Amino acid sequence: MKVLITGGAGFIGSAIAKKLMDRGDRVILVDNFNDYYDPQLKHDRIKKFLKGYEKPARQGGSFLVYTGDIRDAKFLEKVFKKEKPDKIVHLAAMAGVRSSLSDPALYVDVNILGTTNLLDKAVKHGVKNFVYASTSSVYGNNKKLPFSEKDSVDTPVSIYAATKKADELIAHVYSHIYKLPTTGLRFFTVYGPWGRPDMGVFTFIENIIRGKTIDVYNFGKMRRNFTYIDDVVSGTLVVLDADLPCDVMNIGGDRDEKLLDYIAAVERCCGKKAEMNMLPLQSGDMISTVADIKKLRKLGWKPTTRIDKGIKNFVLWYREYYKV
Ligand SMILES: NC(=O)c1ccc[n+]([C@@H]2O[C@H](COP(=O)([O-])OP(=O)(O)OC[C@H]3O[C@@H](n4cnc5c(N)ncnc54)[C@H](O)[C@@H]3O)[C@@H](O)[C@H]2O)c1
Repeated sequence: MKVLITGGAGFIGSAIAKKLMDRGDRVILVDNFNDYYDPQLKHDRIKKFLKGYEKPARQGGSFLVYTGDIRDAKFLEKVFKKEKPDKIVHLAAMAGVRSSLSDPALYVDVNILGTTNLLDKAVKHGVKNFVYASTSSVYGNNKKLPFSEKDSVDTPVSIYAATKKADELIAHVYSHIYKLPTTGLRFFTVYGPWGRPDMGVFTFIENIIRGKTIDVYNFGKMRRNFTYIDDVVSGTLVVLDADLPCDVMNIGGDRDEKLLDYIAAVERCCGKKAEMNMLPLQSGDMISTVADIKKLRKLGWKPTTRIDKGIKNFVLWYREYYKV
């Protein structure tokens, strides 16, 4: 199978690429290597994390990288014409909840126009399945927990969440009119090696290792289904292989953790106490994101990584990559 992954140099995209190539699939990565966070990390995911899979060094699973912007329809047309992908995993996006409030137009542009361009190319080029990243943020401050796909998601509390909800609506149109199979994955706080430096789960590890203070919002009174990267990868592959006509799915860890328990697990793993700067809730942040994962479980998926193990792997990677 040939799979086009947008955001392929990103945290989740590079990990999915690796797993697909391990099972013999060919992968086309599209990314614009923007500087929302240090682009060196994106280049290193390609150069170091995916080392050994380059074409033509390897039979079977291999990859090619196209550098370009998903807002550029002409660029996408060239890639689709040349590569003729069987399926798509669309992950390229502006992904920060907080920064979406300072640059709303950019988020609307990349996340909505970019996704629409890709859906359009997918239909035109006969793609068999279009799996795309949504987010647990679409649940806003819904009071009912855990969050189920059946719940209303009409009250987002960030521009980022609103753009992802818009993606789900637009994908529905493409499935309905053109019979393009689409599934939106609502990821819940993904963490692990090669992670995203702008995320809290990353900065906690970074600052605790380096003996710096961590900012803890809502005075630590938050709950999350932290989801280890390997579990996100296995869930995405299940959905990519299922070719569902039109759906959205939660993909989250199976334990509802308190943020302070996550921090305590990092402390245990680093052998250091965190210096915590307790702060009120920031606008756009959600107090709880707890996933109902029955729907994806029915397809045979289950998360298997407990936070102690996941954090250990994350800390080991951090120390090795940043040499601390
Ligand atoms: N990591 C999480 O916890 C999480 C949670 C919910 C949803 N998501 C979603 O999952 C997807 C992947 O997230 P991630 O954590 O791997 O983020 P990431 O930022 O590491 O990856 C996204 C990649 O997309 C690329 N990109 C951004 N704009 C682009 C554009 N206009 N054209 C081409 N490439 C572009 C970036 O350079 C980056 O490499 C995103 O859509 C994000 O919104 C992630």
